[in-house]
Amino acid sequence: MKTVAIYPGTFDPITNGHVDLIKRAAFIYPKVIVLVAADTRKECMFSMEERVRMVREGIHDLCPNVQVEPFQGLLVEIVKKHGAKIILRGLRAVSDFEYESQMALMNRRLEKGIETFFMISSEEYAYLSSSFVKEIASLGGEVRTLVPSGVDKELRKRFTLA
Ligand code: COA
Repeated sequence: MKTVAIYPGTFDPITNGHVDLIKRAAFIYPKVIVLVAADTRKECMFSMEERVRMVREGIHDLCPNVQVEPFQGLLVEIVKKHGAKIILRGLRAVSDFEYESQMALMNRRLEKGIETFFMISSEEYAYLSSSFVKEIASLGGEVRTLVPSGVDKELRKRFTLA
């Protein structure tokens, strides 16, 4: 059976940092499922449909072994439903560690057999976040090199920068 790795996130919106991590994961794992979360602590700028579409467009053609899906409810339940045991998360800086370790421990408490594997982000994306991207775009700044082209287009439309 193929090892399946689950990469969950809010992706509001997907950035080149996420794309980089997905590409690297797809090189290691036979199958990667990117799960776009409905239940997140954040208030999203983009709807679930928009976020899923932008993730799909962002990784289009790059990785045939990557599947993108929306998800609702407890992460560990969806992970189990996919027959997976691995949750993938990115670490950009030490500051990510506290939140990420709490989430990993809580997920393992909820479901013993599921492990979280961390991947260090590439240097060039270590300071990148979806919030920064939205803030910069909303203030008329250039984000073309930070996000897939479809996301850049969406942000331009939203903030009428075109
Ligand atoms: N490159 C660029 N940015 C990155 C990154 C990378 N490699 N890795 C993380 N980030 C950034 C994101 O852009 C995002 O930035 P933002 O805070 O400015 O939006 C931030 O790091 C984290 O976002 P993301 O990776 O999308 O994760 P999240 O914390 O939004 O997602 C869920 C959390 C969805 C996985 C979690 O809430 C969840 O599992 N929800 C389902 C309900 C559940 O089971 N809850 C119990 C959890 S114990």
